[in-house]
Amino acid sequence: MGFWHQAVDGHGVFTVVSGEAGVGKSHLVDVVRDGAQRQGGSIVTFQCSPHYGDSPLYPVIGCLERMAGLEASDPAREKRRKLDHLTERLAGTEPHAAPLFAALLSLPPDQCSDLPAMSPPLRKQRTLTALAALFIECCRSSPSLLLVEDAHWMDATTLAMMELLAGELEDLRLLVVVTTRPVWSLPVAGFAHAVTIPLRRLGQDDVLQLMEQVSDGRTFPNEVVKVVMSRSDGVPMFVEELTKAMLESDALVQHDDHFRLKGVIDDLIPATLADLLTSRLDALGEGKDVAQIGSVIGARFEEGLLRHLSEMEQASIALALARLVDADILAEENSAPMPLLRFHHALLRDAAYGSILKRRRKDLHGRIAALIEDKHPEISEKEPETLARHHEAAGNVLVASEYWLKAGRRAVGSGANV
Ligand SMILES: Nc1ncnc2c1ncn2[C@@H]1O[C@H](COP(=O)(O)OP(=O)(O)O)[C@@H](O)[C@H]1O
Ligand SMILES: [Mg+2]
Repeated sequence: MGFWHQAVDGHGVFTVVSGEAGVGKSHLVDVVRDGAQRQGGSIVTFQCSPHYGDSPLYPVIGCLERMAGLEASDPAREKRRKLDHLTERLAGTEPHAAPLFAALLSLPPDQCSDLPAMSPPLRKQRTLTALAALFIECCRSSPSLLLVEDAHWMDATTLAMMELLAGELEDLRLLVVVTTRPVWSLPVAGFAHAVTIPLRRLGQDDVLQLMEQVSDGRTFPNEVVKVVMSRSDGVPMFVEELTKAMLESDALVQHDDHFRLKGVIDDLIPATLADLLTSRLDALGEGKDVAQIGSVIGARFEEGLLRHLSEMEQASIALALARLVDADILAEENSAPMPLLRFHHALLRDAAYGSILKRRRKDLHGRIAALIEDKHPEISEKEPETLARHHEAAGNVLVASEYWLKAGRRAVGSGANV
């Protein structure tokens, strides 16, 4: 939290938390977020996504929708009113912020009609400046924490916006925390003050501590600890998953404050981590089916869409979802514009997706594309790449290519670095 205090004092800090999947980047972010929130900081989050690395400003658009409080059900006029309200304080410096944002959010042309004609590169530049101005204004009213999750999936235009912001950092009450897998190489020139915080795997003592955290303080026999240490390699996510798998199996008998082993461990836990994740899904019965369908929709998905796709009864779906949330496989997100379910970890989604038969996967992608076109026609304008991806995976090559083309044109229109 030292960096946070430095930021509160008016010296912005840019940090990059780097480490492999499951090593605890998001966990660290949660701790920093809680601390900043308790001290009255504003929290701004950019969540990058594996499916939207080519969609210009995707994480910023989600953030803008949340900041403005846009609901999916709001009519376009209401959305524009909320954008006007959000950008009120920018009127002096960025008079076109609201129509630029309206265009970025794909509101219909009549909601951006006060936008003067400009070339695509100029529009891109103005949009980026207006966005940076909005975030800077946010830091003026209260110290702010900008969380950029999973930057290895960040698009080039968001990166350009971040560079603008980083240029102003010196005098801002802003702490930027970027998380990324090590593959992402930070364009350091733009972020001269960036502090890199590499996260490493846990040592023995920390593994032990994490295991006891999962078991509510009960201790494990040595054999169990040894197996968890060697199989997890000290990656916290796998320490957690292996410990949960142990607790859910009948291998351990509980005695007051500790567990005793009954049976042979080797037969009780799966040999590979992929198997481990799949077996946790298997243990959930109908929950597995629901998780699988969700994984085909994406890393985060709308409950309504899932309900249309599943053959299960509505009550069973609700029960399955509750179990998945309970088991920390899914998390509920009360984010605007609509409540979503999100896989607790990318690796869990991969495991669910990987456990579906290819034919069923293909069929699901096709049905999802059709449902989105039917229920959310605005997606074909707003996120053509989503439909392109589902059609492609469904084998509808021609339709997919039309959507990819549209996504490409949109990218140029809203100023991607192409
Ligand atoms: N230091 C820690 N203490 C307790 N749990 C942790 C710690 N680090 C990670 N975890 C747990 O491990 C899992 C994966 O961590 P996460 O932060 O999501 O990884 P990453 O974002 O690096 O992929 C989560 O369930 C998280 O709660
Ligand atoms: Mg993470």
